[in-house]
Amino acid sequence: RFCPCATGRTQQYCTSAKNISIRDALTSLDTGSNIRIRGWVRSVRSQKNHLFLHVSDGSSLQPLQVIANSDLNIRGLTFGCAVDITGSLEKSPSQKQKVELQAQRVEVVGECDPVDFPFKIKERHSLEYIRQFPHLRCRTNSFGSLLRIRSEAAAAIHSYFRDNGFVQIHTPIITSNDCEGAGELFQVEVKNPHFFSVPAYLTVSGQLHLEVMAGAFPAVYTFGPTFRAENSQSRRHLAEFYMAEAEISFIESLEDLMKVMEDLFKTSTEHLLSQCAEDMGLFHKFISPGQREKVDLIISYTEAIDILSRNSEQFTFKTEWGCDLQTEHEKFLVKHCGNVPVFVTDYPYDLKPFYARDNQDQPRHTAAAVDLLVPGVGELCGGSLREERLELLKTRLARYLQLRQFGSVPHGGFGMGFERYLQCVLGVKNIKDTIPFARSSRSCLL
Ligand code: 4AD
Repeated sequence: RFCPCATGRTQQYCTSAKNISIRDALTSLDTGSNIRIRGWVRSVRSQKNHLFLHVSDGSSLQPLQVIANSDLNIRGLTFGCAVDITGSLEKSPSQKQKVELQAQRVEVVGECDPVDFPFKIKERHSLEYIRQFPHLRCRTNSFGSLLRIRSEAAAAIHSYFRDNGFVQIHTPIITSNDCEGAGELFQVEVKNPHFFSVPAYLTVSGQLHLEVMAGAFPAVYTFGPTFRAENSQSRRHLAEFYMAEAEISFIESLEDLMKVMEDLFKTSTEHLLSQCAEDMGLFHKFISPGQREKVDLIISYTEAIDILSRNSEQFTFKTEWGCDLQTEHEKFLVKHCGNVPVFVTDYPYDLKPFYARDNQDQPRHTAAAVDLLVPGVGELCGGSLREERLELLKTRLARYLQLRQFGSVPHGGFGMGFERYLQCVLGVKNIKDTIPFARSSRSCLL
């Protein structure tokens, strides 16, 4: 096919029409320039001798308006089809957009039958509805925005750690340890039963591997998929989720750890608010912790239990000292504290895994562990100082002991659930709407 630009070149080799993303076209000042865009049609309407299209290519929430002369006689042009368009970028007379594309050529690359397509033109579909189409939901406005924000949030988390001197460690996905000691493992089945010679599992946390590295680096992190076979249909549990985990050596108090958790949360959120303003705007119920000077509310577990006990009639689960905090308790505490992020510290020793540092404060025996609770979600981060004292650990885990024999230092770390972070900053109710392909019990579509 020859390009309509009159250079005599085929479209493929024509350099006069510049390939650009719709995001770049929308902000371009280069009106009059010849451009080429490729994307999917969001709407089509005809008026007099013209067709007005809205085209999206995933690069921005706002589509580009394209105006084509009806003479172009475009075959197969419908809502949802894929198009390849060249034309001239012009200043738009309308208030709705700065620029529009006057098409010289519109080619339908992939047709779409709008009757069978599950999303209808100009209709608002609920997140529950679009969740049924994991293979197509990236074509909706809301999920498109979510995916752009998710990508930017992941970059912000890596930047935070890199800018603060953390070394990224690629912790393994297949492991022979059960970090949390919980019975929520996916076992890896190998045809040859002698392949690993020990039972192998998908990781539930990279913590133990980070602790190994914290024996040589002062600050390390990992950010990757983790797996838990939780038999839960809750709105905040997935079987496969991403976790940002940090481990820091030579820290001696929970305050040092909370400072990093708070900074990570604030810096990433500020980044999203400035870099993804339009997409974030679509999720109107988001909170903006960046507007707060500090996530400065810290209460102890014992204080939390006091608050909850005074309101025990509101809860299904018990609120006695020694009971684990349930989602209903966490959400209540956040509301009670003014609907802002809140740290809860010093949990009962028996509630926390073997690695949490013993506060040795009998008779109320607690561990130096901390959770960050946030509005709309409850627990976002879980962390602790680690038990580095060999004597106290001796009765616990054999392999873990070796880490403490050779140059052991006080250290601590935490993990932040990435999907829960997105739930929190966007106000998304169901965690399944924050991940491209959700996996949970009885659900592994596509
Ligand atoms: O509190 P958790 O279980 O902590 C750990 O795994 C530690 N080993 C982390 C560490 O210290 N390096 O999990 C950390 C966070 C939770 O606060 C929550 O946000 C998220 O991971 N999380 C889940 N997110 C989605 N689905 C699930 N099933 C989750 N389980 C935990």
